[in-house]
Amino acid sequence: MIVEPKVREYICTTAHPTGCEENVREQIAYVKSQGEMEGPKRVLVIGASTGYGLASRITAAFGCKAATLGIMFERPANGKRTATAGWYNTAAFEKFAAEDGLYAKSINGDAFSVAVKEQAIQMIREDLGQVDLVVYSLAAPRRTTADGVTYSSVLKTTGETFTEKSLDLRSGEIVTKSVEPAAEGELEGTIKVMGGEDWEDWMKALSKAGVLAEHAKTVAYSYIGPEITYPIYKDGTIGHAKQHLQKTARKMNQEIEGLTAVVSVNKALVTQASAAIPIVPLYFAILYKVMKEQGSHEGCIEQISRLFHTKLLADPMPLDAEGLIRMDDWELDSKVQDEVMKIWQMVKTENVKELSDVDGFWEDFYRMFGFHLSHVDYTKDVETDVKIPSLEDEKK
Ligand code: NAI
Repeated sequence: MIVEPKVREYICTTAHPTGCEENVREQIAYVKSQGEMEGPKRVLVIGASTGYGLASRITAAFGCKAATLGIMFERPANGKRTATAGWYNTAAFEKFAAEDGLYAKSINGDAFSVAVKEQAIQMIREDLGQVDLVVYSLAAPRRTTADGVTYSSVLKTTGETFTEKSLDLRSGEIVTKSVEPAAEGELEGTIKVMGGEDWEDWMKALSKAGVLAEHAKTVAYSYIGPEITYPIYKDGTIGHAKQHLQKTARKMNQEIEGLTAVVSVNKALVTQASAAIPIVPLYFAILYKVMKEQGSHEGCIEQISRLFHTKLLADPMPLDAEGLIRMDDWELDSKVQDEVMKIWQMVKTENVKELSDVDGFWEDFYRMFGFHLSHVDYTKDVETDVKIPSLEDEKK
């Protein structure tokens, strides 16, 4: 079929298989261009199919020559419906890994569940023995815990209603948007989903099963951002969940012998998870403009490649006073932020195209779903029913 983008506000309901493959190919080429690293050889990535997790899997595999096991929650094609981008990305990743002789297997299921954890442990035991690095990169709207209770994650404030400028993604207009305070139970729900509890469950399960290498490391990703977004991010429900993630890292360092657990604060980037946050897309568009002009803009793959090359694998790891890796160092540089805030004050519908990189935002958005890639012929018929090799093997 000929696949075209079908965009609904901040989500695209179609994905292009060839475009997603091209996207993965380009990320691999970037990692290879940065040179090989001495690093982990057996890596588990939880949330491995898109965004920061996919970039982590690619960096570990093609930068460190690591065997990777990736966990994701994606949907295959079904009749007229294309698969999700993460499905096609994973199929492409496994194909390229096989071409380079690298072990790559994937599990498609709910990472929060006990069953998926057990399946992962069994695969590690059988195929890899142990893992040296675990990347925890889940972004999920909800989580069902072992007792059958389902919690939802919300993006709300924890104080007053917050009103700010926002970019209406459909019309391209600058509007005013309000974010309401969390209702009772919503803060706790967000912490349950996006905090550290499940990360800890994973690491304890791996440790108990004896499949964590002696000096294993684990990293989870967080975000802080500029003051303008504090009410909805850092001080909002999601920020509280991220605080819990940090607390969990400290706890695991004490309780799981030999393990180094760390949180890396990454840059704001357009991903499926972040495009859904109100007010933030306007900040992204302005940030992109300023960082591109100053020559310091990075995408997921550049961020994660720099994370591995300069911080995560360094001994000792460069950490801030709170024990965090700061990959948002370039984003939060005052040279960048002063300019961003100047533009923020001035931006309105009439000048938003000129003062911010709305086009860059949309380019990243479409690329996430495999569209707008320069080497892909979108007029050609494509097979949408793409198989992920390791999932086919599982069925046999
Ligand atoms: P994403 O939406 O691109 O990736 C989420 C991944 O989680 C996908 O691989 C998806 O399949 C997987 N997933 C979701 N629910 C699952 C489930 N129940 N079971 C198994 N897999 C599941 O998101 P993104 O943006 O890469 O986020 C990853 C982490 O990075 C999050 O913790 C996020 O807060 C953090 N982060 C994101 C930033 C951004 O601007 N995008 C900035 C800094 C940190």
